[in-house]
Formats: sequence, structure tokens, C-alpha cells
Amino acid sequence: MRNPFRSTRVRLTLVSAVQFSMVVTAAAVGFWGASSQFEYAAVDASLRAQGNAVRATVEQSTSSGSPILPSRSSTGLPIDSFVVGPDNLLLADSASVVTFSSVSSLVPVHGFPVHAELETVVLPEGAMRVLLRQIALPDGRTGGLLLVRPIDDVRFRLVQSAVLLVLIGTGLIVACWLLAWRLAGRALAPVREMSTIARAITEQDLHRRLPEELPANDEIGQLARTFNTMLLRLESAFDSLQRFTADAAHELRAPLSIMRTQLEVTMRRRRTEAEYVHSNATLLREVEQLTRVADHLLLLARADSGALLPKLEPLDLPDLVEEVADRWQASAAAKGAALKCSVVHGGRLMGDPDLLKRLLDNLLDNALRHTPSGGEVGVVAICADGVWTVSVSDSGPGVPVDAQPYLFERFSRGDPARSRSTGGAGLGLSICAAIARAHGGSIELAPGPLSGATFILRLPIHHGAAPNPSPPKETGSRPMAGAQASTGEVMAASPSRDRDH
Ligand SMILES: Nc1ncnc2c1ncn2[C@@H]1O[C@H](COP(=O)(O)OP(=O)(O)OP(=O)(O)O)[C@@H](O)[C@H]1O
Ligand SMILES: [Mg+2]
Repeated sequence: MRNPFRSTRVRLTLVSAVQFSMVVTAAAVGFWGASSQFEYAAVDASLRAQGNAVRATVEQSTSSGSPILPSRSSTGLPIDSFVVGPDNLLLADSASVVTFSSVSSLVPVHGFPVHAELETVVLPEGAMRVLLRQIALPDGRTGGLLLVRPIDDVRFRLVQSAVLLVLIGTGLIVACWLLAWRLAGRALAPVREMSTIARAITEQDLHRRLPEELPANDEIGQLARTFNTMLLRLESAFDSLQRFTADAAHELRAPLSIMRTQLEVTMRRRRTEAEYVHSNATLLREVEQLTRVADHLLLLARADSGALLPKLEPLDLPDLVEEVADRWQASAAAKGAALKCSVVHGGRLMGDPDLLKRLLDNLLDNALRHTPSGGEVGVVAICADGVWTVSVSDSGPGVPVDAQPYLFERFSRGDPARSRSTGGAGLGLSICAAIARAHGGSIELAPGPLSGATFILRLPIHHGAAPNPSPPKETGSRPMAGAQASTGEVMAASPSRDRDH
């Protein structure tokens, strides 16, 4: 069975109602105690006043005759008076309620007290308040005065007020419990609604949101907003994951279907040796493309999980840039383009040579691919203020303005209509950005010296930072990617020498 105390509503109700009940009980007990004190103080005052009156009467009486004692106080209350001699024998009384035999046991054996003493006793006639005090008898001896006041009326009034207080208190407590239950229910209603909606949200309807029409500083409103922000992030992440999976599947499927078609066509009949060579060359090209995409995806997955840890070593970056540029000279020449490299030798850089070569290869591959015959590609490396800047510019058409915000996103291509034969998978720049981040640097598209695109890579000479560079947060759906996507964010990177790529 479900434990009811696990319900927040029950607990809230209990806490507030118990507190209120305690306050009500304390107030009732305090009130009753005060009125009881007040009642008994009034009784005692009337007894003292009566005692004074009786003493005056006794003192003024002659020693021969017994005094006539008043049987009521000045306010009309019935108070029995008994005057007792030194031998404890009754000398005079005004008994109207009790007899001396009923109260004789109250007469002190060792004499009456000098000052008034009060006590409550229960006699067969009922509850009484009794005053005992010394008194001077008309014959000069010392006697005692005993005054008895019935207090059943006082007790009755106190019982009455106690019953009334219990009734009112119980009513208030019950009302408070009901109110607390209702208020807790109302306060928690949005939480219940939120939990119902949240439970119903699946990956298919991540666009759903919780209602936020609560006061801005209300905790539950804040919770709803926080939850909605989380949903937005989840939706973005989910969207980009779906896009990524679809793109990756497409990139892997395309070479596979080409290979399949190629094999089917080749196997239809016997082929000449030249035809087999041609077919194998096609297959090899597609296998290379598959390997390249798989390789890129693996590197990006590692970057995402923070496992892309560059193997840092002191590097002469200008040498590395020149080496990479030299490797691309043949391709540039084949295309009829001029590849110019200009480097300024400066301080060494802590970096992973293999990763940095891969980054520069991607940039030069792009630049040469987009540079027309007779065009120019320029590579410049300079160091200033502890940062190495490597720019790769070309005289191609540049990156279309529409494509710029998404340039560094995975599978983003400037021209979506471009065929596979003329373009790549759209992973090169996102890999460049991941490698730059792993080195604590950044990469961005910026205006350059040539008419086409210019990519600027910035790498700090020293970068001591967290060993596990976290990947940039995917901005999700394309319209949200914004200008940030046109730069590889500068992020802390690992100084670790471990290598896992
Ligand atoms: N130098 C450049 N000039 C013009 N457009 C460029 C240039 N470099 C990149 N782009 C645009 O950016 C897109 C993304 O480039 P990226 O390197 O990420 O992918 P890719 O070159 O298409 O494929 P991959 O690099 O995976 O083989 C390209 O499709 C292209 O439209
Ligand atoms: Mg590329």
C-alpha cells in the first residue's frame, strides 16, 4: 500500500495544521489558565475583605455577648464565618451553607496563622475556598477566624469556559486542517499538471512545453521555465542527433550502393582485364570515401565525448605549415593554381602534429577544391601576443552568405545540390573546429586578402586547461545556429600528453 506520508500534499497539510493546532491549543490553555487565576483571585479578595469585616465586628463586640457575624459579603456572596477560641471551641458563627462540624477538621491544632492562609477543600456540601487567620477576641485572648466560601459556581464557570474553548479550538483546528489541505492541493496543482505533461512527453513530441502562466518569481513557475529550457535543449540535441544520424547514414549508403551497382554490372558477364581494373579502381575509390567518412565520424565522436586528447609536444608550427603546403603543391599545380606559403618564424607551440596536419590538410583541400584554374591559394602563419595565427585564403567564389552560419556544423555543405564527385561529406570544417578546440584555439571564416574564402586558425602557444575539452554544444536546428556556427568556438583544451585518436 502506498505510504500517504510520501505525498507532499499530506506532509504540507500535516506540518501547517499541526503547527496551527499547537498554537490554538496553547492559546486556549493560556486563556483558560488566566481566567481561572482571575476567578480565584476574585474569590480570595472577597474572602479577605470578609475576613476584615468579621474581625472588625468581633473586635467591636463586648466580651459578654457573642457577636453577630454577617453571612454574606458586601457584594452579596454567601460566606460562612466561624470564630474559634484558643481552645478551638466555636465562639460564634454565621453558618448558612456549611456547619461547624463539617469544617472543624480544618481548625489548626497548633493555632491559627498570624496572616491569612487560603486553601481549597472539598466538603460534603461541595468545593469550598477557606481562609484561616488569627483574630483578637474581645476578652483579650487570641482566637481564630475561619471563613468558608462555596466555589461550585466558580468551578462551573471554569468548566463551561473549558468546554467552550475545546469546542471553538476543535472547530478552528478542523477548519485549519481543511484549509491547509485545500491550499496545499491548490499550490501543488501546477506540479501535478507538470508531472502529467512531463510523463506524456516522448521523443516524438519534444516540442511540447509546460504551462508557464505563473508569477515570475513563483518557485513552481521557475521550475516550469527551467524544465521548458531543458526540453528546448533536449529537442535541439535530439534534432541535431537525428540530422546527424540521417546524414551519416546517407554518406555511408551512397558509396555502398555505388559499389553494389558496380559489382552487379561487372558480374553480369565475363570482363576483359582492363574492365576489371577499371571496376576495381571504382570500388577502391568508394572504399576510400567510406573509410574517410568513417574516420571523420570517429574523430568527431571522440571530440564529442571529450576523448579527443591531443598528444602535445613542442612544435615548430611554421615548419609544419610549410611541410603541409609542400605536400599540396602537386595538387595545386595539377589544377593550374598557385599555392603560396609565407611563414614568420617565432616561438614554439605545444600541439599535436598529426592533428594539426589533418586540420591544415582539410583547409587546403577545401581551398584548392574551390579555387578555379589559374587561381591562387595563400597560407600565412604568424605569431603575436602568444597566439599563432594561420590563415588559408583562396581566390575562389567564397562561402555563400546563407551557408556561413552553419559552416562548422557536421554535414554542412555550401551548395547542397553539389554532387558527391565534386564535393565531400561536409565534415572537414567540423573536424578542423574540433581539433582547434582540443588545442585551446579557434577557427573562423573571416575577410581575407584574396577574393574567396579565408579561414583563420588561432592557437595559443601555451594552453593549460582542463584535460578533457568538452565539445561545443550543438545549437540544434539550423535556424538557431546563428553566427556562432561560423566560428569554431574558443574552448579550453587539454595539456595532456596522452593520446587517443
Ligand atoms: N574555401 C572554400 N571556399 C568556398 N566554400 C568553402 C570553402 N571551404 C569550405 N567551403 C564550404 O563549406 C562547406 C563545408 O566544408 P567542409 O570542409 O566541412 O566539407 P566538405 O569539404 O564539403 O567535405 P569534406 O571536407 O568532409 O570532404 C563546403 O561544402 C563548402 O560549401
Ligand atoms: Mg572539406
